[in-house]
Amino acid sequence: MIPPRGACLAHPASAYPHAMLSDLFSALGLSGHPRLTAPGDAQGTVTVFNPTTGAPIAGVRLDDADSYERTVASSAAAFKAWREVPAPVRGQVVRAIGDEFRRHKDALGDLVSLEVGKIRSEGRGEVQETIDIADFAVGLSRQLYGLTMPSERANHSMKEQWLPLGPVGVISAFNFPNAVWAWNAMLAAVCGDTTIWKPSLLAPLTAIASNAIADRVASSMGHPGVFSLVIGTDDVVGERLIADPRVPLISATGSTRMGRRVGQVLAQRFGRALLELGGNNAAIVHHDADLAMAVPAIVFSAVGTAGQRCTTTRRLIVHERIADDVCTRLVAAYKTIRIGDPLADATLVGPLINARAVDAFLHAVESARSQGGTVLVGGQRARVSGLSGHFVEPAIIRCDRPIPVSCEETFAPILYVFTYSDIQHAIELNNQVPQGLSSAVFTDSLRVAEAFLSPSGSGSDCGIANVNAGTSGAEIGGAFGGEKETGGGRESGSDSWKVYMRRQTSTINWGTQVRLAQGIRFD
Ligand code: UN1
Repeated sequence: MIPPRGACLAHPASAYPHAMLSDLFSALGLSGHPRLTAPGDAQGTVTVFNPTTGAPIAGVRLDDADSYERTVASSAAAFKAWREVPAPVRGQVVRAIGDEFRRHKDALGDLVSLEVGKIRSEGRGEVQETIDIADFAVGLSRQLYGLTMPSERANHSMKEQWLPLGPVGVISAFNFPNAVWAWNAMLAAVCGDTTIWKPSLLAPLTAIASNAIADRVASSMGHPGVFSLVIGTDDVVGERLIADPRVPLISATGSTRMGRRVGQVLAQRFGRALLELGGNNAAIVHHDADLAMAVPAIVFSAVGTAGQRCTTTRRLIVHERIADDVCTRLVAAYKTIRIGDPLADATLVGPLINARAVDAFLHAVESARSQGGTVLVGGQRARVSGLSGHFVEPAIIRCDRPIPVSCEETFAPILYVFTYSDIQHAIELNNQVPQGLSSAVFTDSLRVAEAFLSPSGSGSDCGIANVNAGTSGAEIGGAFGGEKETGGGRESGSDSWKVYMRRQTSTINWGTQVRLAQGIRFD
């Protein structure tokens, strides 16, 4: 029985009126969903709060050991059927899922905004990433190419093929509550794998709605159990998932601390880990850069998603000749940034995810000050009339040289600015942090751009290195991920699909004699 619309909802007292919230829930199949309950402290549930208002939106029932077991067992059983479906037919299922996400793009994007505070165009942009990776996966479903290779033996041939791997565990963070799952789930699906998704407890509503869309489409086409969800604490669900021998691959996005734990447990059981962890991304601005282009690109990368992308620009390395000018322009741009309700048209920066994130932001700004940094703009709580959410004023902090706090990833909008005179020094500064996700250089000089991308590897040490484009906002077509403490994994485009499959090499003797490799004789 479907309870009356909105029965599970709290009044979030935000710019999103209750009636509209009910419509949103019902458009996304959340009304009356068995996972949802009234917000509160009931045991075995988590309350989802709207970061714009601080008010509760809904309660979500968590998995326990028994329901975890049922979900994984049914995913493992579904895998056995799904892998028998020819890959291009699997692609047709993913195509239908992509179409369904197209139909739900606006509603789901708004739910992302409501749950994690992204501005409307970024919330919808995130769902667009899901649609794009679904399209990519459909094409891929006919291109899971192996190789043939010449055999050294007469009348022998050799080939490799790519085979489905098994149920894939996907652990996602709050900041991309829809797209990061889709990067994994859409590729995994065409590769013949099932997916068990453990979303962040800060953003389970988007996960419930997203997984329900994929599962509904796949089930209606005769493939139940391909997409499943486990929601719970690290103790009850996370630790079980990463240690589970039925799950050969865990793709985890989040903190370096979390990734280290996942990596250790996976290594212990010879499981495969795809880790996409922290970033401390820098942009270099050379003296010949086109600042009319560089400044807005840097502003988006530094304050977009309120500084809560793993690709956010956190460090700016500016040529000393233009440093004052760049700082003046950036400060002027920051002063025009409209902070507020993420669903209001004019807003560019919404709230941080919760009060802890605000504390971490304030603490980092304070540390920077005490370590010798000068706050040029922002760095405090932002007051937004009528809203009691977790708003801050994005900060720019100028430092003579890197300071301890600038080597850490604070998941908030803080941009540290350093200067350089020699491009090699700028590249050293870029590489001088434990993380290695994204990087950028702004320049009109071919020499500088190519030094940054040097084929010797002496340029940027990051997984992503852009020229005249910011560090964030990567397209799905490229492999996404980074080095060092970022974890080394690659998701999304290019040949990232290979991690979701196992490779098998076959030698076929079509002759009449036994022939041994390396010329060995055994007779
Ligand atoms: C993340 O923050 O975990 O490049 C992913 C970007 C997005 C993905 C970010 N396409 O900013």
